[in-house]
Amino acid sequence: MSYSDKLIDHYENPRNVGTFDKDDDSVATGMVGAPACGDVMKLQIKVNADGVIEDAKFKTYGCGSAIASSSLVTEWVKGKTLEQALDIKNTAIAEELALPPVKIHCSILAEDAIKAAVADYRSKHEAGETDYPICA
Ligand code: FES
Ligand code: FES
Repeated sequence: MSYSDKLIDHYENPRNVGTFDKDDDSVATGMVGAPACGDVMKLQIKVNADGVIEDAKFKTYGCGSAIASSSLVTEWVKGKTLEQALDIKNTAIAEELALPPVKIHCSILAEDAIKAAVADYRSKHEAGETDYPICA
């Protein structure tokens, strides 16, 4: 299997690895797992008073494609509103990284992590709207 330069770059130099203090009110956490392989992805977003994601961090215990997908989405969500972040589709992630077909589910994990983080933020800040599945 051959991997794209972008994928290898994100895998070898992952952006925004780490965690925020989960007790910080502006921080929300999305934790998702892939039943098929057992990999786990944690994505945290830091949302400012205007509802814009100003920072993001991740920790992923998984394959290279999952790590690259998480690294990429931490870059993509920055500067976006929660609604805009929810528009990030796994197909765009897979295309950007040129994921091979057997690795598409790794990009789905990243999309799910965004949804879970946004859902967590909303559950903390807006009563109601909490019903995003944690695992696909
Ligand atoms: Fe790895 Fe699905 S088998 S995320
Ligand atoms: Fe485990 Fe990609 S997330 S194989």
